[in-house]
Amino acid sequence: MSGSRTVTIGLLGFGVVGQGVWKNIEQNRSALEKRLGVHLSISKIVVRSLDRERAIQVPRQILSEDPDSILEDPTIDIICELIGGTDTALDWTERALKAGKIVISANKALICEHGESLFQLARKHGGHYLFEASVAGGIPIIKTLREALVANRFNLIYGILNGTSNYILTRMEREGLSFDETLGDARKLGYVEADESLDLDGIDAAHKVVILAYLAHGKWIQLKDIICEGIRSISSEDIEIANQLGYKIKLLGIIARDFKTNALSVRLHPSLISKSETVASVDEVYNAVSVTGDVVGTTVLIGRGAGQDATSSSVISDIADAVSLLKGTSSIDRFNEVGSLSDDEKRVELAKSEVLESRYYIRFKVRDEEGVLAKLSNIMAQYHISFATVNQKELSDGSALIMVTTHSTYEASILSACKDIKEATAVLEDPVSIRIFDPSTH
Ligand code: HSE
Repeated sequence: MSGSRTVTIGLLGFGVVGQGVWKNIEQNRSALEKRLGVHLSISKIVVRSLDRERAIQVPRQILSEDPDSILEDPTIDIICELIGGTDTALDWTERALKAGKIVISANKALICEHGESLFQLARKHGGHYLFEASVAGGIPIIKTLREALVANRFNLIYGILNGTSNYILTRMEREGLSFDETLGDARKLGYVEADESLDLDGIDAAHKVVILAYLAHGKWIQLKDIICEGIRSISSEDIEIANQLGYKIKLLGIIARDFKTNALSVRLHPSLISKSETVASVDEVYNAVSVTGDVVGTTVLIGRGAGQDATSSSVISDIADAVSLLKGTSSIDRFNEVGSLSDDEKRVELAKSEVLESRYYIRFKVRDEEGVLAKLSNIMAQYHISFATVNQKELSDGSALIMVTTHSTYEASILSACKDIKEATAVLEDPVSIRIFDPSTH
């Protein structure tokens, strides 16, 4: 390796992921440098406080509290933005891209909200914006979609994109625990983001869905325009009934495109999914992404969707791509974000959620008295909703849970029926509806 070029890297942020990048480059340095044909030097790390205790020790002189020590240093080839958030991260990323740098990011929120302008900025100034670690941690889904599966048009991409939610649902299922009981453990294990809403209300997974939809279909979708529901309303009874009916409940991101009508359905919500699907068997903090392409068929990728090592594996994979770009040997210019999509492919319309058609599971908490079930089914019939299964659980306080599944119907019909049912006097709580997802009909 003597005589090889040295590639210089600056890390903005030295938290869990930043320290993982340092640790894993050091651990595999000789193999990595041999593979890449360069020396790698992390020459500067910007931190919020120099005095903070860190698990990974680095030479004191490369730490700085001043972002300019990276952003204004012309000798730095690659900048990794690993601070998260969308304020300072946006400012620093824009500055780095305006300087024509290669910027690597694990920041799904930033890409989801500002990806369109950041990619434009990279193009304009001759830089690059690489983001493998932003979706599904260590699973190489970005590279897979852009490079390995370039021969395909994607009818369906769906999967589990939030490890924390998957952990909670898995514990609820295995131990019959409530959401709140399991959440406590997830917090203790450090799985839940500081802003809990990101995990529990589906926002983190929805950010990832938006990025995948852009990669696969070339359209930036606003979070406000899609169904985004987390797992807070799921109960152990829902999981139990789902199990009896042959389903698991998973928080699924779904990107379905009808190439005949060019309608694109993008959504993130808890779903009942048949136990026979591979994705349904992916438990605990693992993520899974199922990709169906018109050439390859269905491919499922499963792996660690978060955590220091898995995420830093993806950041280092982007560093490797950045090295190829610097050496002029990269093929990724060819795939620069969605450069590989034709205008025709990018011509899609986001489908309105009301026209979504699926089977549903619905739970009603009602007064346990005569005529209540008849009243519910009358309202459902008014909206042409037909029951497929009906289960009832008597509770000790004179109430009952009625849990039904329906035949295929429209989202708009379910919303209207649930609204009417909510107003019925015997109904004690807002009905909870969960879509049943069938990959063969999506
Ligand atoms: N909070 C995320 C998860 C981590 O649970 O999957 C990375 O996005």
